[in-house]
Amino acid sequence: MHILIINGPNLNLLGRREPEIYGSDSFESFFTTLQESFPQVKLEYFQSNHEGALLDKLHEAGFSADGIVLNAGALTHTSIALADAVAAIPAPVVEVHISNVHKRESFRHHSFISAVAAGLIVGLGLDGYRLAVDYLIRRR
Ligand code: DQA
Repeated sequence: MHILIINGPNLNLLGRREPEIYGSDSFESFFTTLQESFPQVKLEYFQSNHEGALLDKLHEAGFSADGIVLNAGALTHTSIALADAVAAIPAPVVEVHISNVHKRESFRHHSFISAVAAGLIVGLGLDGYRLAVDYLIRRR
């Protein structure tokens, strides 16, 4: 089974970026423990600050991966192109946000991704990624 985690803009700074909101763990160290938790799964991680690179990755993996976990960062709230890519691919996509976007500024309350995602997990910190992977394994 092949599951891809895609993180969008600024999520390369996890651990250093606003730790009171996003925590103090880097995604790389979290990802190592995540891989250890799911040894039966080929877990891949991709991060980019560029919308086009995220689109290319969704196109590349979306027809072969068994599932995708997507945290599009701020592009969640702005990108119709990313939503169109999620709608275009057969792989189920779980939308994850580390913070509870609904407790934050109103511009974070709308997501273009949610309407085309299999489901979403918000506000549970990095655990959201673990729950999303677990869901994708079970739904198969
Ligand atoms: C985020 C929430 C977004 O509003 C923000 O722009 C991010 C991170 C989250 O994981 O909580 O970059 O997607």
